[in-house]
Amino acid sequence: MKLGWQDFPGAPPLGKVICAVSDIPRGSVLAVLLGEYPVLVLSVGAQINVFVNACPHHFLPLDQRSKCILSTDGRRLMCSNHLAEFNSSDGQGVTGFGIGTCLAAVPSHQKDGLLIVGDAGV
Ligand code: FES
Repeated sequence: MKLGWQDFPGAPPLGKVICAVSDIPRGSVLAVLLGEYPVLVLSVGAQINVFVNACPHHFLPLDQRSKCILSTDGRRLMCSNHLAEFNSSDGQGVTGFGIGTCLAAVPSHQKDGLLIVGDAGV
């Protein structure tokens, strides 16, 4: 079963500020709690991606056992619980318990140096 970002409890409203763009580290992942709603923010090339921090295997935070969840080339996120891997570009599961699943992507856009929930113009 594939869950969308708004299917998780505490999903933020469109327009909610996630973080300052300058807070997003290169070559690493920023974990942010929007109230009770956990997200992972990462920059992939020129793109910034946001995913719900819930592995579709058991819906545990990907970084629960280790904060080092991004591959050195930045192309894959690895769940620290049972090592499922996901493409950092689209969240698609590519190995282990990730196969056939997908991380829930949270739409976002940048405005005035902030990363904001929802597509631009919403
Ligand atoms: S909870 Fe992520 S691989 Fe099991």
